[in-house]
Amino acid sequence: MLKDHYENVRIERDGGLTWVILNRPEKRNALSPALHYEMAEIIDELEVDPETQVMVLTGAGDSFSAGFDLREYFRNLEGKPIEKARAKRAAHHWTWERLYYFPKPTIAMVNGHCFGGAFQVLVACDLAIAADEAAFGLSEINWGVYPGGMVTKAVAEAVSYRDAMYIILTGRPFDGREAARMRLVNFSVPRAQLREETVSLANELMSKLPVALSAAKEAYKAVKHMDFHQAFEYMTAKTIATSALDVDKGRTKALGQFLDDKSYRPGLQGFRVED
Ligand code: COA
Repeated sequence: MLKDHYENVRIERDGGLTWVILNRPEKRNALSPALHYEMAEIIDELEVDPETQVMVLTGAGDSFSAGFDLREYFRNLEGKPIEKARAKRAAHHWTWERLYYFPKPTIAMVNGHCFGGAFQVLVACDLAIAADEAAFGLSEINWGVYPGGMVTKAVAEAVSYRDAMYIILTGRPFDGREAARMRLVNFSVPRAQLREETVSLANELMSKLPVALSAAKEAYKAVKHMDFHQAFEYMTAKTIATSALDVDKGRTKALGQFLDDKSYRPGLQGFRVED
């Protein structure tokens, strides 16, 4: 069950859209062990929450997140291998085992600072929109380490070889427009329009059939690293499974609306689920 209150995260609901807001603005929403534990619990719950159709992750105040907490995650856990292992497991669990495979669409809304370990949260989301004014960077090299944890893996997943090497080796900050150019985010808009654009994208997703959205993202993430034979077998089974789960008979309705009623064009818009 979701709790009414979390110390480090705020949850807001608006129709089927659930906002998960990293909420340590005074520390630029740095990812502390306590925040990781709360997020692990929250994502587990939201995954099976019928009210959540699309989840948006963002940060309170002027930051998305300044990355892993340099004091609470790094310095305070030096010489404490058990606590460190526990915090590391929670961080990995909620980002790569739960958020990355979340069964509903996820959007990162990058409202401001996004540094280091925050790239994991960003990349684990399916889609991302940034404020033009946001500040991104892999600052690790600036404090004498390489982008550890799963940061390098996240960057390798999301951007080209040249861009990855540039941001990993220089640690130079860049803005939302540059993040969009390198496809780290889908697009960027002036900060004043960020929320409106994010809600509009979320509404578009919520107008589609949930079972198809789930299958679409699960299939992409599953077949990406399969060979062609494995992918063929998987996709065949997935299509049958998706059809069995489609209690709204969406595909049948959509075909009827296009082929018989001639009332919509699937290339241009979604079918009427409620028909
Ligand atoms: N870990 C722990 N604390 C952090 C933090 C982080 N990653 N990022 C910011 N904070 C804390 C600061 O220590 C400061 O705390 P204090 O008020 O107790 O001194 C507070 O957040 C505000 O930070 P400040 O640097 O004053 O804010 P700013 O708006 O001038 O600058 C940043 C924001 C994000 C540019 C700057 O804080 C920064 O460079 N942070 C480190 C980013 C980083 O290297 N992240 C990689 C970690 S994997």
